[in-house]
Amino acid sequence: MERTKILVTGGAGYIGSHAVVELYEAGFQPVIVDDFSNSQEQAVRGIEEILGVRVPCHRIDCGDVEALRAVFAEEGSLRGVIHFAASKAVGESVQQPLKYYRNNLGSLLALLTVMQEFGVPHLVFSSSCTVYGIPDQLPVTEQTPTKPATSPYGNTKKICEDIITDVVKAPESTVRAILLRYFNPIGAHASAKIGELPLGVPQNLIPYVTQTAAGIREKLTINGDTYDTPDGTNIRDYVHVVDLAKAHVVAVQRLLDVRGEAVEVFNVGTGRGNSVLEVVHAFEQATGQKLNYVIGPPRTGDVPAIYADVTKATEVLGFRTTTSLEEALASAWKWQQSLVSE
Ligand code: NAD
Ligand code: WQD
Repeated sequence: MERTKILVTGGAGYIGSHAVVELYEAGFQPVIVDDFSNSQEQAVRGIEEILGVRVPCHRIDCGDVEALRAVFAEEGSLRGVIHFAASKAVGESVQQPLKYYRNNLGSLLALLTVMQEFGVPHLVFSSSCTVYGIPDQLPVTEQTPTKPATSPYGNTKKICEDIITDVVKAPESTVRAILLRYFNPIGAHASAKIGELPLGVPQNLIPYVTQTAAGIREKLTINGDTYDTPDGTNIRDYVHVVDLAKAHVVAVQRLLDVRGEAVEVFNVGTGRGNSVLEVVHAFEQATGQKLNYVIGPPRTGDVPAIYADVTKATEVLGFRTTTSLEEALASAWKWQQSLVSE
């Protein structure tokens, strides 16, 4: 039987590459689109080594309508799109807001245009818990009010959600969408053939932790320990990237199977909050590595605590994470070691 074709924009990136693997393993035919602005061809080789097959990959800018049209025409019979392609560095977005508005909004607009032209009916969009800002209540549900983001990057995610909502709710729309609000993705594929490839000094916690353990960074600086949390450090919901990737498979499946609402929103997290110190200790426990760390000042604009209420994803999508924090951290360490030994 022919596999159902799903276009994966940003499919060579961190989360996209894991989603490509899970899609294929679930019986779909993923087709990658990526401009490699924040990834490497090596990720596609990694995917192909895991799967033992070639995966079609088009090197184009997703904001280029003509190039997208050519891909849709060449591939034919696409049933859906998972749209990961975006610029995602929060700090850089403050320095270069136009780059973020242009790329993140531009690629979505181009994509929606071409999906409508070709009658491709299903879209899964990568949103983020950043849309909740600093929440008044925990855990956050999909009903928790969104707040103005503290960065242009965060704004682009909310604006993209609004664009998709308006477009799919229009009377003539042929597209339906699922918006997935990811919490903090961490870890790597068990094979260590794909994982997160931060360029330069990592901004996110886990790559900084693994690079410190590997001796690439001297020490981890924990961003403050006087927050109103049990140990004073920030709390996040760290979700293993393979679990997160699987959420995309069930989201695509729901769009294909259920003729439901035009747009649905789901939190994707574990439902657990862990502090930075808990992550450090879990990493030491899971890997046997001692981590050199100091407590530094709070990071401007940091959210003190956020974690997901995952009831809706569990009940509606039947989605559940299965990986523990320790297992996720062990996979991140295995990936880091594979990079060092290259
Ligand atoms: P990533 O940078 O590893 O992957 C994004 C991929 O998209 C990269 O391969 C990049 O080269 C590609 N890309 C960017 N702009 C493009 C364009 N115009 N045309 C074609 N390809 C383009 O990032 P990621 O961590 O895998 O994130 C994927 C998505 O998930 C993004 O939309 C991001 O905003 C969102 N998200 C990420 C996190 C996180 O913490 N990693 C959290 C919430 C949401
Ligand atoms: C996690 C925790 C830091 C580094 C960012 C984006 C958000 C989303 C996910 C895309 C925080 C602490 C970190 C360090 C530390 N991305 N930390 N020392 O801030 O939750 O969210 O990524 O949508 O939009 O803002 O993730 O990994 O940066 O930080 O103490 O060297 O680790 O303060 O509490 P964050 P993070």
